[in-house]
Amino acid sequence: MKKPTRVNHPPDVELPADNRPLVAPIYQSVKFEFDTLAETERYLRGERPGFFYSRASNPTTRQLELLLAELQGREDCLVTASGIGAIAQTLLTLTKQGDHVLCFVETYNPTRYLIRRLLTRFGVTHTMLSIEDLAGVERVLAAQPVRLVLFESPTNPVTKIADIAALCRMAHAAGALCVLDNTFAGFHQHGAYAVDIFIHSLTKYASGAGDVMGGAVIAAGELIRAMRADFTVLGGTLDPHSAFLILRGMKTYFVRYRAQCASAMRIAQLLAAHPAVGRVHYPGLATHPQHALAARQMQEFGTIVSFDLKGGAAAVRRCAEALQLFALAASLGSGESLAVTAQMMGQRELSAEQQRLAAITDGTIRLSIGLEDIEDLEADVRHALDITAA
Ligand SMILES: Cc1ncc(COP(=O)(O)O)c(C=O)c1O
Repeated sequence: MKKPTRVNHPPDVELPADNRPLVAPIYQSVKFEFDTLAETERYLRGERPGFFYSRASNPTTRQLELLLAELQGREDCLVTASGIGAIAQTLLTLTKQGDHVLCFVETYNPTRYLIRRLLTRFGVTHTMLSIEDLAGVERVLAAQPVRLVLFESPTNPVTKIADIAALCRMAHAAGALCVLDNTFAGFHQHGAYAVDIFIHSLTKYASGAGDVMGGAVIAAGELIRAMRADFTVLGGTLDPHSAFLILRGMKTYFVRYRAQCASAMRIAQLLAAHPAVGRVHYPGLATHPQHALAARQMQEFGTIVSFDLKGGAAAVRRCAEALQLFALAASLGSGESLAVTAQMMGQRELSAEQQRLAAITDGTIRLSIGLEDIEDLEADVRHALDITAA
């Protein structure tokens, strides 16, 4: 073999069957081959397991899919290049012209964009309600066939809690699929409810380091099998190296999530006691209007704490600029604490009534609580609020 040939066919290094790495290798390969054409053809006819082309499947991304499915309490999973990719591909795969989708004002802005702009272009109609309007949900489901109900809990940014059992019951009675973007609650929560499809942004708690993007769709094996071929040609595949980084992040998922939730509770309590703050949104507080529902549905109340400053936009500006440890940046779920102001949230496409339902005021700030020492975080928030109130 000449050297230019050799560099394209490097020596094999085979591990003995009784000798395994504790961390699975990254299969950073687009292509996989079988020993013979006959076996290749058997694979392509679906008669044997294996891997062929990484846009369709890859051992590293598959390991992540199996882990996430198990954590969320479902049979199977598809991972994607981003969270919004998971939502877009799910919507495109499950809907067709003439279908109707039920969604909510409190849903992540780009998800609403997908439904309003993209699906509408393809003849899929929608109704957008408040997540608290269960009577409205019942009415819409009775008025026409609905393909799917898509919601979040807790919602962004004001942590409203969806009544998951009621939504699943009503959706199923009407023959609709129940789809929950469970990013805020995490992989270990809500699995006991009859949700058909869980969606996650892996960019958040799964990676935990804020250095990689990804998404996941988790459901019963039959549903995932029905979606897999469409996902493969839509092409938003997760890269194996990103899957490896997310798998690495998952090792510390539970300790991180629980520590961040404990800190979030302390920050929520601090905010609630400060005179500059009009209202705190955190489902762990007994004063949260849906605290009882949250306590029934969740073991942890999440790492997002939002609050409304009494002084409106001017106070937000003073407070946001006084925060030292909280970066003014998008996203959530990683080690560093973050703050997003109402002015950064961009809800301009909502009507005045929908903005009222979304409950974001000029004075709203959303905090994503990270992994810093809680006393440092408390001192930072207290200092910023004192400056705001001065
Ligand atoms: C609830 C929720 N769903 C989906 C997404 C989209 O995820 P990604 O940024 O990974 O595309 C986000 C991002 O912030 C989110 O907060």
